[in-house]
Amino acid sequence: MKATDFLKKQHREVMKLFKEVEKTEAPRERKRLMTDIANHLKVHTTIEEEIFYPAVKEIGTEKVEDMMLEAVEEHHVVDLVLEELPQVDPAADTFDAKMTVLKELIEHHVEEEQDEIFPMAERKLGKERISELGDRLEERAGALEAPSA
Ligand SMILES: [Fe+2]
Ligand SMILES: [Fe+2]
Repeated sequence: MKATDFLKKQHREVMKLFKEVEKTEAPRERKRLMTDIANHLKVHTTIEEEIFYPAVKEIGTEKVEDMMLEAVEEHHVVDLVLEELPQVDPAADTFDAKMTVLKELIEHHVEEEQDEIFPMAERKLGKERISELGDRLEERAGALEAPSA
C-alpha cells in the first residue's frame, strides 16, 4: 500500500473514534474510546516520525524542512494532551471540551498533512519509494500494536 494511503487510513480510523466518543455519555465507554484514541495516535505519530517524516525531509527544500518541523511540533502538542488523558474523568463536565479540543488539533494537523505534505511526498518521492515506505509503516505499526507480553 502507498505510505500516504496507509496514513490516511489511520487518520480515518482516529476520526471515527472521535465521532463515537461524542455519541456516548457512559463513562466506561468514554474511557475505553479515549484509551483507544490515545493508542491509535501514539502508534500513528511514532511511525510518521520514525519512517515517513525523515523520508519526506530528504526532499531537501527549505519549505519541506519548515513543514516537517511544524508537524513535529504539532505531534508534541498532541503528546502533551495524551499525557493528561489518564487523569481525565470521563464523567466530568469538561470531558466533551477536552475531546473537542484534541479533535480540532488533530483535524488541523491531518489537513496539513493530507493537503500539503502527502501530495508533495507523492510527487517528489515517486511511486516505488512511496509504496516501499508504506510497507515499512505497516510493518512497524503492526509491531507497535502487538501486545507486549
Ligand atoms: Fe502527523
Ligand atoms: Fe498523520
